[in-house]
Amino acid sequence: MENHDQELLLSVRNLKKHFPIRKGLLSRVVAHVKAVDGVDFDLHRGETLGIVGESGCGKSTTGRLILNLIEPTAGEIRIGDSPNLASLPNKQWLPYRRRIQMIFQDPYSSLNPRMPVGAIVGEALAIHKLTPPGEPRRRRVAELLEQVGLPRDAARRFPHEFSGGQRQRIGIARALAVEPEILIADEPVSALDVSIQAQVINLMEDLQRKMQLSYLFISHDLSVVGHLCHRVLVMYLGRTVETGPTPKLLYQPRHPYTRALLSAVPVIEKDQRRKRIVLDGDVPSPVNPPSGCHFHPRCACKFDPCEKVYPKLIDQGDGVKVACHLYDPEYKDSIPDSVHRTLNNYGTAPASNASQQVATVTTPESNDTTTEDAPTP
Ligand SMILES: Nc1ncnc2c1ncn2[C@@H]1O[C@H](COP(=O)(O)OP(=O)(O)OP(=O)(O)O)[C@@H](O)[C@H]1O
Ligand code: SF4
Ligand SMILES: [Mg+2]
Repeated sequence: MENHDQELLLSVRNLKKHFPIRKGLLSRVVAHVKAVDGVDFDLHRGETLGIVGESGCGKSTTGRLILNLIEPTAGEIRIGDSPNLASLPNKQWLPYRRRIQMIFQDPYSSLNPRMPVGAIVGEALAIHKLTPPGEPRRRRVAELLEQVGLPRDAARRFPHEFSGGQRQRIGIARALAVEPEILIADEPVSALDVSIQAQVINLMEDLQRKMQLSYLFISHDLSVVGHLCHRVLVMYLGRTVETGPTPKLLYQPRHPYTRALLSAVPVIEKDQRRKRIVLDGDVPSPVNPPSGCHFHPRCACKFDPCEKVYPKLIDQGDGVKVACHLYDPEYKDSIPDSVHRTLNNYGTAPASNASQQVATVTTPESNDTTTEDAPTP
């Protein structure tokens, strides 16, 4: 489902964060870590955008930039019709900060162990002067705890008295206290047991339906992303390599990197096991990324332009954008047959029958399992 008829809440353009590396007595800048290197996306009301990619590709840095926890090197961040927040001084962010909140990865370290839950959840109500102290604030905290499925008397207890899943609920109640429109969830369930993960994901879906919340959902887990997200953005070395509606991206991955990531996701159906692609080596250093397409040293489909030219992110006409020369009309006629053959079976072919291209995932809307042909350039 795409919610493009819904109001545009967050718009990010050419966002960059280059962390300086300093050396020597004078702390001279000798290089930069290009953690985020020109990312674009939109988030609409009631929509969930998943950000996926291997470790170190810039997912958390993107989230921290949007929360204004770190200052961008360049780019634009707009919430609704706000001015460009990326170029505003910190103080002027304040009216917008309330609209975006964070759900943290680790429910154990993100809650102050010395504060009772009521004080943790009520803190933001006090900071933003939303509810007067005393009975009105206690009532509001109890309401928030109920909203996330905790008993009202949880307010009197301390974080260590709760399980991991319950602590994550406390974290969500704290984030909801200021009535945000956007929640940035950075690996919010990866520290939890699988059964508890499902409960927290269900809670997030319920809250989204009731409150029209928008989520930026950062995760390694493509199965969870497939279930929860309406759209997905795949990052590699600080850049977007593919983005589009979840069913399109997961049933019909185009970029060789997306195909490789998806090949690791277990498929439930009998005889529909995907051929696993094991990528060579780790993600290269963002200090000195490879020339041309940053993925070329690990790509089985590379051809002439790949080492020299960085691919443009090109709209494929069906809501998907891909940054790969294989999908650029300019190079269409120069793709060698051997590369066509490799791509045809790359990641989407089931192990049991390599001649048939099939990808299988669960859609966010129907939870149905679907098979479709993967597109070729
Ligand atoms: N404060 C910092 N100073 C220098 N480099 C940083 C800083 N924060 C992050 N980085 C680097 O930026 C790159 C992207 O980091 P980031 O945490 O955004 O990755 P990630 O995609 O969230 O990874 P993971 O999946 O492991 O959480 C990494 O190479 C990281 O080492
Ligand atoms: S541009 Fe070339 S190296 Fe990069 S993913 Fe596409 S085929 Fe592979
Ligand atoms: Mg991270």
